[in-house]
Order: sequence, then structure tokens, then C-alpha cells
Amino acid sequence: MGSEIREHLLALLIEHADQFVSGEEISRQLGCTRTAIWKHIDELRKAGYEIEARPKAGYCLRYQPDRIAPEEIKALLSTRRFGHAIHYVESVDSTQWLAHQGVRSGAKEGALFLADEQTQGRGRMGRKWHSPPRSGIWMSLLLQPQIPLNLAPQLTLMASVGVTRAIRRETGLPVTIKWPNDLLIDGKKVCGILTELRGEQDQIHYVVLGIGMNVNTPAASFPEDLKTIATSLAAESGRTYRRAKLIAAILEELEHVYDLYLTEGFEPIRHSWESFACMLGQSVTAHTPQGPRQGIARGLHASGALLLETDEGVVVPVYSADIRQ
Ligand code: BTN
Repeated sequence: MGSEIREHLLALLIEHADQFVSGEEISRQLGCTRTAIWKHIDELRKAGYEIEARPKAGYCLRYQPDRIAPEEIKALLSTRRFGHAIHYVESVDSTQWLAHQGVRSGAKEGALFLADEQTQGRGRMGRKWHSPPRSGIWMSLLLQPQIPLNLAPQLTLMASVGVTRAIRRETGLPVTIKWPNDLLIDGKKVCGILTELRGEQDQIHYVVLGIGMNVNTPAASFPEDLKTIATSLAAESGRTYRRAKLIAAILEELEHVYDLYLTEGFEPIRHSWESFACMLGQSVTAHTPQGPRQGIARGLHASGALLLETDEGVVVPVYSADIRQ
């Protein structure tokens, strides 16, 4: 109960950031006493918020720390389902693991699992995902779509569209998508998406959509092997970003594309994906499990496969590969 009031109080202060909101107004909106408000203000201050208090004028939010605890995100969120249940921990081996655990404890579609740090972040193709404390977004979203198993790759592409929209909206940075779902800025990776699913008999049980985004990571702090291939939003723009605001935007855009996908199918998603894609029309090498394949990237097949035009002029679908130029 207390945390719900604190969420509302924070949302109210954020909405009027740098302006005073009277104690009377707060107590009217929150339905609690002035003493209770004072207690919550005190707790927010302990969490790093700078809140000025003036007799008669009320309270004014002067500074917000870059925290990603549930109340920070919920204060900014306008989704109908995604992120209404948030499970946050400071440090975990992988938020994917948290999400799989969550399902066993009854978590429902839209539940979000996130951490400030991952000690064993997982990437695609068995790779590790560098997830240092407090500098990025390491989160996993639970989906339970009623679609056949063979359509699952479309969910990954759908997610890349949603996250790209959110980053563009919040930062204005020119993020593009490298097939299937690497988000790049100027050729360097800023965000990766890992989809893990459980299903049986051609039916999806649930999907865990893992999103890893380098937000405020200074360029110099990437490990040597990542320095030339990875970047962060801050490194690209020269400013820092509030992660809670980005997370709220990601959840909003994801809910939007997911609903679109469930009602209208993959076609509108395919169009958006192609409009954000880098490398279309360019010569690429697809490193498939069967070996390298050269060709021109032509677009996205309805199944989610990348369409590659070979030197012989034949267009073939690529289902699993690492694409390089
Ligand atoms: C990729 O290889 O591009 C995918 C990276 C996905 C990383 C995210 S971070 C949150 C979630 N937890 C993990 O361990 N991995 C995903």
C-alpha cells in the first residue's frame, strides 16, 4: 500500500518537475494525510531524490537519480499491460533466468524482470552479454502469444521494431536494425535482443524477450574485444539518459507493435522492419551453420527469414546466420 502511494507521489512530482505542488493538492490526489506525505517524501530523499520543501508553496522535485526500481518506471508508464508487474533486483546472473523462474511462480504476460547488473548476461548464439552495474538496461519481458511455434522468429523481429522506435523517439539517434535483431548506430551495436521460448506440440507456452541496451556506458569502459564493435547511447550523443524513461518508452512501443502483430499479423511489422533495416540492397556474407553465403540483402520474408539474392540471381531465404558486410 505504502509503495503505491509513493509511486503516485513520485508520478505527481515528476509531472510537475521544477514546480511546487502544494501539500493540500498532494493529499487530495493521493487521499492521505500531510504527515503520511512527509514520510514518503523523506523516503524518496533517502533514495536520492532532491525535493525542496517550502512552507505554503509545497514540494518541488529538483533532481531525480537514475534509478530503475519499479516505482520509477511505473510513474512514467502508460501501457495497458506491459510492465504492470515489475520484478527488480540489483544484481542477478541473468534476467532471463529470473523470468523463467517467474513463470514457475505464476507470472503473467507483460511481467517485466530487470536488474541493475547481470553477472552472467547471455547473448545470442551462446555468447556472453557484457552487463556492468547501473549503466545499461538489462531486462526480460514475458509474452504468452497464442501463435504456432513456427512463427516465433517473427516475435524477435517485432521486438526489434518496437525497441528501435523507442530509442529513436527518446533520443533521436539514427538506430538501424541488422538482421535479425541487432540494433546499431553507425555500424556499432547498441542493443541486442534474445528470445527464448518454451512450447510443446506446435504451441507456444511462453516467450522471454531479453533486451540488453548500452545506455550510459562510457566508450572507454567497454572491454577491449568490444571497443570496436559496441557503443552506447551516451557515447553516440555525448549526453546521459534516464533509464526508467527509456524502459517506459520501450514497454509502450513494444505493447503497441505486439498488439498490432496480434490483430493484423506480421505484414505491417515486416514493412516497419524493412524501413529501419541497414544493409538492404548491399552485398553481405551470411555466416550460416552450413557455411558462408554471399549475396545482396533484399528484404524480409513473411516467415522472418532474410532474403538473400545470390550471384546467380536467385533469391534464397536465410533462417539462421550472422550477417557481415
Ligand atoms: C544478443 O546477443 O544480441 C542478445 C543480447 C541479449 C542481452 C539481454 S540483457 C537482458 C537479458 N538477460 C540476458 O542474460 N540476456 C538478455
